[in-house]
Parts: sequence; structure tokens; C-alpha cells
Amino acid sequence: MKLNIAVLAGDGIGPEVTAEATNILRAVADLGGHDFTFTPALLGGVAITAAGTPLPEETLKISLASDAVLLGAVGDNKFNHLTPDKRPEAGLLQIRQHLGGFANLRPSVAYAALSENSPLRPEVTKDADILFVRELLGGLYFGAPRWWNHDTNEAINTMRYTRDEVVRVAKVAFELAGKRKKKVTSVDKANVLEVSQLWRATVTEVAKDYPEITLEHQLVDSMAMHIMNTPRSFDVVLTENLFGDILSDEAGVITGSLGMLPSATIGGKVNLYEPVHGSAPDIAGTGKANPLGAILTAAMVLRHSGKLEAEAAAVEAAVQHVLLAGHRTADIARGTDPAHVRVTTTQMGRLVHEALTQSL
Ligand code: NAD
Ligand code: IPM
Ligand code: MN
Repeated sequence: MKLNIAVLAGDGIGPEVTAEATNILRAVADLGGHDFTFTPALLGGVAITAAGTPLPEETLKISLASDAVLLGAVGDNKFNHLTPDKRPEAGLLQIRQHLGGFANLRPSVAYAALSENSPLRPEVTKDADILFVRELLGGLYFGAPRWWNHDTNEAINTMRYTRDEVVRVAKVAFELAGKRKKKVTSVDKANVLEVSQLWRATVTEVAKDYPEITLEHQLVDSMAMHIMNTPRSFDVVLTENLFGDILSDEAGVITGSLGMLPSATIGGKVNLYEPVHGSAPDIAGTGKANPLGAILTAAMVLRHSGKLEAEAAAVEAAVQHVLLAGHRTADIARGTDPAHVRVTTTQMGRLVHEALTQSL
């Protein structure tokens, strides 16, 4: 299998966790005789510093010519004074648009090994396995008009969706639910927003083509509570862009840490793979970053772009093996088990690598 992977490591802990993810992909290639190439390119704050723009032409060219784009994280406090269109995050939103993927898959799984590390009680999280399908190219992030008038002290952003945009992402959610527990929970704010009324009506219509799937609708505010109270009662959770951004970070609590969550964005020209977390400037350069979200993201590259299901599952199993053996980065070191061993970013990457080479 040949795979050209563009690697946009980005800012903060982005390069630290991405190095561990690419190591794992290299190991899979070496062990299985696959030909993976890795082409680094600049995105975010590092691109602003080097090239004056968060998404340089060269990065876009490399990404569009690749089979998959693996991203670390973007964002650097030193650019906080810039308007949204000039900030590192603008580069991420632009590349998402160019690559065209509209369905952002964000799994949140309660690993048995981490049951004592979540602030939620083990009996609440046990066997929870939620797959968020977050619409990624619409809503408030991209709607026009958008502006901030400093003279009148007014600002506006626009939440906009078309029926077609809702149909295409809803289909992805129903298809995926068909391979899982056959339940879709669609999240909206249909008691207040017209956009959500369109969303709910459209999802209800799409559901008619999937009679084997149970559809339920939840309002986003109470959904935020239900996810914490009864995480096991959800299977596929379908959301618009901003609601999915918020709820998927919240669901990090089920797994034990935001640093554990991977994502894959499908449906466009080139799939985009990024951990859910950001550049974590508070821990960048300290060796505290958890690379497992990025490594599990690498597993999603293998699954969705490489069609290497066995290898993807082997990476996921290696992660579980290392966790069961008691190794913990600082973010998942809650709990009092004396058998737990604190490890750094690179140590964690090396442990997963070892477990993987023994299993493949
Ligand atoms: P964040 O996800 O970077 O960090 C939130 C908290 O989680 C921090 O305390 C951080 O230390 C911790 N954390 C995150 N990832 C971790 C990991 N892998 N291991 C251990 N701990 C981890 O969110 P934030 O602090 O709100 O944002 C920081 C910057 O990241 C901002 O500039 C934001 O715009 C950007 N951001 C980028 C992306 C992305 O590139 N995909 C995603 C989210 C936020
Ligand atoms: C994420 C991030 C991004 C988003 C930001 C950095 C643009 O929070 O990937 O979850 O809001 O989509
Ligand atoms: Mn986010």
C-alpha cells in the first residue's frame, strides 16, 4: 500500500505529538512492507512567522497532492491580537475548506484501563462508545455576514445551513450508525433557532431511508448534561459545527482526557486527520503532552485512507496495552493506583511503538 501523507505539525504541542504519530505510521509501513511518504509543511503560527500567512500556497499544494493530511494543532497566544482572518486558526479553517471534508468523525471511548482516571464514576462510563459526526464546513464558522464594527460596538456572525449540507452529513451519520448500535442522536436548538428547525426537519427526512436506525433529537443544552450522566446511552451523535466542537471536547471527560481524542474528516477531496485537542500552550515544551490522541488519529489514517483495518486495530490495541500496563502521561495520571508510572510524550510514543512491533 502506497500513501503520501502531508504532515502539518503546526504549533505548541502539535509537533511533539505529531512526531509520535508519524513514528507509529513508519513502524506500520516497515512491518507491513508498505510505502508511506511524509511531506512536512507549515500551517498556523509557524507559517505566519515563516511566510506571513497561516496557510501558505506551498502547504495547500502539498496537501491537495497528498492521499491524507495529518495535522497536529495550531494556535499561539502571541497572535491573539490579530483579527480572526489573520490568526493561526484561520489557516486551519481555510485548509478544511480546500480539502472539502464535511463530516468530522470524533470517537470518544471509555477505555477500561482509564476507568479510574475519568472524574466520572467507572459505572457511569463503563463501555461508553460515542461517535460524534460533526458537520465541519458550515454554520457560524463560515456563515456571512461576519464583522466587528469598532465604531458602533456591534459584531455579527451568521449561522447558516442549506438543506443539502445537512443531508450529506446526516447520511454519513446514518451509514456509520448502521455498522454500530444503530442509533443516531441529532443535536440542535430547534426550540429557538430557524437553522436548527431546518436541521431537525432535514435529518428526520433523511432518516426515512434508514428504517433500521433509531433517530432521536436532543436540544444541545440538555444534551451537554445527558452526555455526562448517561454516556452509554449514545451511539452516533450528529451535530452542526459549533455544537460538535463543544460537545466533543466535553466528551473527553468520558475517556479521561482531551489528549486522548482522535478525529478524521471525510467526504472531500483529501481526508484530514487531526487530534481533537489544540496546541496546549500551557504545557508545550514540557514533555507533558499526551501523544495518544495523535497516535489514535494515525490509526484513523490507516483505517480510512489506507483501508488497513487490521493495522489500525493493532495500533488501537497497542495503545490499550500500554494503558493497561499502567503508563500515564500527566493528563491521565489522576487516581491513586501505585502501579501507575508517569511517562513523557516521547516515552509514551516509544511504549506504543514497542507494543505494536510485538503484535504486528
Ligand atoms: P487545548 O486543547 O489546546 O488545551 C485545553 C487543555 O487541555 C489545556 O489545559 C491543555 O494542556 C490540555 N491538553 C490539550 N491537549 C493535550 C494533550 N495532548 N496532552 C495533555 N494535555 C492536553 O485548548 P485551548 O487551551 O483552549 O486552546 C489553545 C490553542 O489551541 C488556541 O490557540 C486554540 O485556538 C487552539 N486550538 C487548536 C485546535 C486545532 O488545531 N485543531 C483545536 C483546539 C484548539
Ligand atoms: C477544533 C478546534 C478548531 C474548531 C479551531 C481551532 C478552529 O477547536 O478542531 O476542535 O473550532 O474547529
Ligand atoms: Mn475544538
